[in-house]
Formats: sequence, C-alpha cells, structure tokens
Amino acid sequence: MKTKQVHLLRRPENIAVEDFILREVELSALQDGQVLVQNLYMSIDPYMRRSMENDGKDLDPWPINDALDGPSIGRVIETRNSKYSVGDIVESMSGWQQYFISNAEDYVPYLAANDALVKRAIGNGAEPMDYLGLLGIASQTAYSAMMCAIKLVPGETVVISSGAGSVGSLACQIAKIHGSRVVTSAGSDAKVAWLKHDLGVDAAFNYKTTPFDVGLRESCPNGIDQVLENASPEHFSACLPLMNFSKNILIAGMVGIYDVGGKVRNIENFEYVLDNFLTIKAHLFMDYLDSYDQFTEDMLNWRCEGKLKQKIHMFEGLESAPEALLALFNGEGRGKIMVKI
Ligand SMILES: NC(=O)c1ccc[n+]([C@@H]2O[C@H](COP(=O)([O-])OP(=O)(O)OC[C@H]3O[C@@H](n4cnc5c(N)ncnc54)[C@H](OP(=O)(O)O)[C@@H]3O)[C@@H](O)[C@H]2O)c1
Repeated sequence: MKTKQVHLLRRPENIAVEDFILREVELSALQDGQVLVQNLYMSIDPYMRRSMENDGKDLDPWPINDALDGPSIGRVIETRNSKYSVGDIVESMSGWQQYFISNAEDYVPYLAANDALVKRAIGNGAEPMDYLGLLGIASQTAYSAMMCAIKLVPGETVVISSGAGSVGSLACQIAKIHGSRVVTSAGSDAKVAWLKHDLGVDAAFNYKTTPFDVGLRESCPNGIDQVLENASPEHFSACLPLMNFSKNILIAGMVGIYDVGGKVRNIENFEYVLDNFLTIKAHLFMDYLDSYDQFTEDMLNWRCEGKLKQKIHMFEGLESAPEALLALFNGEGRGKIMVKI
C-alpha cells in the first residue's frame, strides 16, 4: 500500500511552500501488534516553524526528505493489536501523511514517538476534529494560562496578543467568561471587528495601523493586570510601562519572531519590571496536563452553552499543508489552522 507524505527539502531562512514536497512512499506490511491508521485531520502550529530549524534547542528538528511529525487525528482501518478495533479514532503525532503504521505504543502527550497512539472518545459533544481544535494544543495553552497559571479577577484588565489567533481567541473568551476586562490586538480591521462583535472583547485594535504603545494606552485607562504574550517583543515591550504593581506577564510564545531568525531582540522598557515588581513567566501547557479532564469538561460545556466559539481555518488536502503552515506567519490564518487530509 502507498501513502502520500509531505517532506521538508531544506532548512530555509524564510518559509516558502517550495521548501516542502509531496511524495508517495510504500508502506510495509502490517506486523503483529501494529495498526494501520488513516489520518483525517492534522493540526498546524507555530512550533513547527522551529522544528524546521536545527538549532539544538528543546525540539527535535524535522528530518530532511523524510516523514514529518505533528498532531493528527485519524481512524484505525486495519489492526493486528487487540487493544484497537477498526473504526477507533486515535490521536497521534504522525501528521503530514495520509496513512501510517503504528506500533501502538502508549501516547505520552505531545512528546510521543511517531508510532504512539491514544484512543479518543467521540460523543458528548466531541467530534474527531475537536481533538485538534477545541481540545487541542492551542486550546490547552489558552485554558491553562487563563485558568491555572494566573488568577482571573473580575474587572481586572487582561491583555492578550494575537487575539484572533488560535490561543488568543480562546484565551480572550475564557477571560470574558470570568468577568475580566479583555484588551487585544490583531493584524487587520476584519480580525478586529470579529474580536469586538463576535467574541465580545472590551477593546481591540489593528496593530498594523495603531502602534502597540498607543493602542494599549488608549485601551487600558486603568493599567494592565495580566498579559498573555503570544506575538512579539514589540507587544511585550509596549505592555511593560502600563503594568500595575506586582502583576504578571505570561509568555506562551512569540509567533512574530519564528520566521525571522527566532531571536528575541529589542526588548524595551525593561526598567518597569523592577519598578512595578512584575512577575514574568514562560508558559507551557504541558505543565498543566493534570487539569486535562477538567479542561475537556469546561471547554465542551462552554461551547455547548454558547459561551465559547472557535473559528477553524480548514485547508483541504494534504498537498495544502505547506500553505497552511505559511498562513500562520503571513496573517492569512483565521483562528485555528488545520488540514483535512
Ligand atoms: N507554550 C505553549 O505551551 C504553547 C503551545 C501552543 C502555542 N504556543 C504559542 O502561543 C502563540 C499563539 O499560538 P497559536 O497557535 O494561537 O498561533 P496564532 O496566534 O494563531 O499565530 C498566527 C497568527 O499570529 C499573528 N502574527 C504573525 N506574525 C505576527 C507579528 N509579527 N506580530 C503579531 N502577530 C503576528 C498573525 O495574526 P495577525 O493577522 O493578527 O497578525 C497570525 O494569524 C505562539 O507564540 C505559539 O508559539 C505556546
């Protein structure tokens, strides 16, 4: 049997669709203990840009000219493992391909070897796609940031960057559910209108037409109490002078630097960290996996009650995966980016 896979051709300075190629490869015959999985959807996430590098940091680099990895959800279509039946819905890190053979090792969330799997329950409001969307990595990041890493206090001002993004849009809504005053920004007027009118944030501005320092000062007359940083050193720097005494900045990431060398440069206003006794903390959703059951219950309930919406930007076909990855960095992306395989 053959499968299509997307391979990386080189490690580029700036990502382009030409850095990838779609290839057809032969799968070996299924052995005892193995299962054959057909991928249904794969998730596209900013960390993948870092996987394209070989920078010796925490992430294993993607190989050149070989199968890539990434979160995916699929269906078991053949099994020689008694723990799995045909039709089981499984999550894995074996994205970027149509079919794959798994040794069905237990899945240690998100650090798993390529041949690890976990069965996912469908029903009670959860569809296969939700395990990459409402219950996926970005969603877990938003939830753990808002519900575990900081304490939301009604009326306090929470600033969230990349508000129309996957993490940002959910974090904005979770903060609103808990009575925060939510201020955010995005890179187009259409995204800003969606944030204000559909998600109900208290203030939002287009950072491409209004500089961060101006937009934040106008939107935060009582200062800032909490920040979830998703975007850039420029946004982070603009928050610092506006921070209230002894408050927090959580840094989930800085998507704006991943395709331009990945270095955090030009942090300004750092003196306010000392002046205002700020706590700055890197945020990693994997530190909060203990709250996974509560997370799934809350997210599904909030969606069911109409308190939480997620915009999915679905690309069609495995061949569109490189374009989908690019959409994270050129502003084309709308909400959570996925590929229907
Ligand atoms: N630590 C963790 O556990 C964890 C897990 C998942 C994700 N993350 C991080 O969380 C952040 C958000 O992830 P995500 O999946 O939700 O991605 P995302 O925010 O949806 O990222 C894509 C969006 O980022 C915005 N963007 C791109 N370049 C920018 C720039 N220079 N300045 C400001 N915004 C820019 C674009 O929107 P605009 O059109 O608005 O510019 C784009 O649509 C990322 O930094 C990611 O690395 C962390």
